[in-house]
Amino acid sequence: LDKKCIAIDGPAGAGKSTVAKLVAQALNFLYIDTGAMYRAITLKALRQNLDLQDEESLTQLAKDSIIKLVPGSQQRVLLDDEDVTEEIRSPEVTGQVSTVAKIAGVREVMVQRQREMAQETSVVMDGRDIGTVVLPDANAKFFLTASAEERANRRARELRAKGYQIDIEQLTKEIKERDYMDSNRAVSPLVPADDAITIDSTGMTIEEVVATIIDMVEKGK
Ligand code: C5P
Repeated sequence: LDKKCIAIDGPAGAGKSTVAKLVAQALNFLYIDTGAMYRAITLKALRQNLDLQDEESLTQLAKDSIIKLVPGSQQRVLLDDEDVTEEIRSPEVTGQVSTVAKIAGVREVMVQRQREMAQETSVVMDGRDIGTVVLPDANAKFFLTASAEERANRRARELRAKGYQIDIEQLTKEIKERDYMDSNRAVSPLVPADDAITIDSTGMTIEEVVATIIDMVEKGK
């Protein structure tokens, strides 16, 4: 009854997950990373060597998979009870996830589960279609963005910290490709909700973005 939800959407590498996590912590809401769900299905499809164009098999795969987001300072992602937290961030999964995420049947399954989670408790949910499709009645909606260059630099830092070798030009290209696919797909494209507040975080620190969001939530919008 008294459950609240905050939607944070935006392109790849805009800092959504970092920011959403901190906002959730500050408000004592549950953080839900919906990108992790699409990544988990993509990982499973790649492991099974499925044809990623085969909408029927992928939709069935989504229906048959149990994805759990385990809350904590370091949110863990369980796919059929296996911890896949690290593996779903691999370049292979990142390179294919938008192909899987554009399938209507896959999205239907994920969106339904996301709505169920938001019914149980107050949440901060991040993704691409949260404010537009998953939680159109969210208490507050944010569209977090940053220049493509800055987003690529942030991603590079993250990946380097995990030991990946990064070619910044290649990474920028990949981020742009993923944004293009996400923004131009037929079902639930990445687009700000009409009532979303856009925050361009280029040149802002994480703390500044978090403070801006919490301030707006507390002011009732
Ligand atoms: O947020 P993250 O970069 O982990 O998302 C990975 C991919 O999952 C996105 O590029 C997009 O294709 C898909 N996605 C989506 N809808 C969401 C969240 C993620 O289509 N709500």
